[in-house]
Amino acid sequence: MGGTFVIEVNDLQKSFNGHQVLRGVSFRLPRGVRFVIMGGSGAGKTVCLRLIAGLIRPDSGQVRVFGKSIERLSEEALLPVRRRMGYVFQGAALFDSLTVRDNVAYSLHEHTNLDAQTIAARVRHLLSLVGLDEGVQDKLPAELSGGMRKRVGIARALAIDPEVMLFDEPTAGLDPTNSKMVADLVAKLGTGVCDTAVVVTHDIELANAVADQMAILIDGQFAATGTPEEVHSSRDPGVQAFLRGEAR
Ligand SMILES: Nc1ncnc2c1ncn2[C@@H]1O[C@H](COP(=O)(O)OP(=O)(O)O)[C@@H](O)[C@H]1O
Ligand SMILES: [Mg+2]
Repeated sequence: MGGTFVIEVNDLQKSFNGHQVLRGVSFRLPRGVRFVIMGGSGAGKTVCLRLIAGLIRPDSGQVRVFGKSIERLSEEALLPVRRRMGYVFQGAALFDSLTVRDNVAYSLHEHTNLDAQTIAARVRHLLSLVGLDEGVQDKLPAELSGGMRKRVGIARALAIDPEVMLFDEPTAGLDPTNSKMVADLVAKLGTGVCDTAVVVTHDIELANAVADQMAILIDGQFAATGTPEEVHSSRDPGVQAFLRGEAR
């Protein structure tokens, strides 16, 4: 394994309470590529992202991020690695008691020495990147629509200027208009903001809109992987059933 990949995952296995969720997942993500992992509910998509971010540890197998093995790093040693990744959690997961401004600025206050004026300018910039105007800055998450909350979650993950973005179901729970907006935003980030990403989703429309490479996670393994064209032309019956919408 060389240093040319942002993420390298090799033969990952993970069980919970005797239930084996991942049974040997492997992939390599070069810089500048958006990789979409699809799979039905409970397939292990969130588990994959949490393993990549070092939030949980594999039973066996390796995770290398930015060329460094992370599967046995201490919490402390993981922090500088995590600060290079932007994690957009399933359901946005904003801090309910903080305004939009403070949600987006959170990691800038925590992890940088930037002065208040610089942070304020960066927050404005991030909100405009995700298509939100200044008026939302003083609002609380509960005052926003689901689509807006999702965009704030993306702005917050972008604040640290990550080298790779990890998106967990960015369109889940959104109506078709907002889903399309978020898909367009994920694609737009690839043009100059953060061009490397792992997106996990059960949403085939999103996958088709943003994927350079994709994989379908079935029974703990990638049943198909490659370009969207390659995956769509897979003869695997499980893959075909998933793509027809029978296994989501
Ligand atoms: N911390 C945990 N403890 C026990 N079981 C878990 C845990 N995290 C995930 N699982 C189980 O692993 C499986 C995959 O979960 P998950 O990755 O969240 O699925 P999804 O593909 O819907 O994101 C599910 O059966 C879930 O119940
Ligand atoms: Mg999930």
